[in-house]
Amino acid sequence: MKTSVLENNSGLREAVWKVAETAGYLWEKGWAERNGGNITVNVTELIDDGLRALGAISEPRPIGTILPHLRGCWFFCKGTQKRMRDLARDPMSNGSLIRITDDCEHYEIVADKPVMPTSELPSHLSVHDYLLAKGSPYRASLHTHPIELVALSHCRKYLEKDAATRMLWSMIPETKAFCPRGLGIVPYMLPGSVELANATIRAIDDDYDVVMWEKHGVFAVDTDIMSAFDQVDVLNKSAQIYIAGKNMGFEPEGMSDAQMQEISDVFGLPK
Ligand code: 13P
Ligand code: ZN
Repeated sequence: MKTSVLENNSGLREAVWKVAETAGYLWEKGWAERNGGNITVNVTELIDDGLRALGAISEPRPIGTILPHLRGCWFFCKGTQKRMRDLARDPMSNGSLIRITDDCEHYEIVADKPVMPTSELPSHLSVHDYLLAKGSPYRASLHTHPIELVALSHCRKYLEKDAATRMLWSMIPETKAFCPRGLGIVPYMLPGSVELANATIRAIDDDYDVVMWEKHGVFAVDTDIMSAFDQVDVLNKSAQIYIAGKNMGFEPEGMSDAQMQEISDVFGLPK
């Protein structure tokens, strides 16, 4: 049996299996129908000389945009058309390790198998490029289809800047504490497009860790993949509480502005 690059690198093995664990949660949540959603993690800091010496197992392929801060960077990516539930049990057959070539506009697959990375690679890599340029410690990005949050994005009122954030924060104190930058909004754009990638960066630059892709899903960034998942999870929990109240026949009252301000003061939140 062919060996995996994970065998001799425990740091990389841990990072990839953390992605697999998160992929399992996405499936259990019902957020990952078919191949829905994607994950990329910047693993450059985990790459050793043995891996650096490996030849590519694919031709260089265009990213679709030039990303100057990603020269020589390495990513673990979910494969396009691959299922999260399959990634959860066999990450190296449903995802691959890629590196960015010196021209900063192509990538090549290095291991374990020639699994083509996600169709949302332009958004993921553009955001990683932006994060590195800013000196951010964030290394993971997640795109997923959380049911209640996506439903919310079908309501014009909640597409206004920070309208959804205010409502979601007010449902339960933890949401503001654990997703303190709230939910940015990206108007509907074609999945996989460079336009969507650029709009995602603009929204993240507006100081959000999680942004809504209108009528599609969310895109979240954090230090590691589990933390990115947690931010989406607390937001979606709030959306579920809101819907539960509506289903009981009333408009949920929400915490007051003073109560939410108190959370910010006590927890020392950024905004
Ligand atoms: P991929 O299978 O190419 O990752 O696409 C899934 C998706 O959710 C696109 O937005
Ligand atoms: Zn999607």
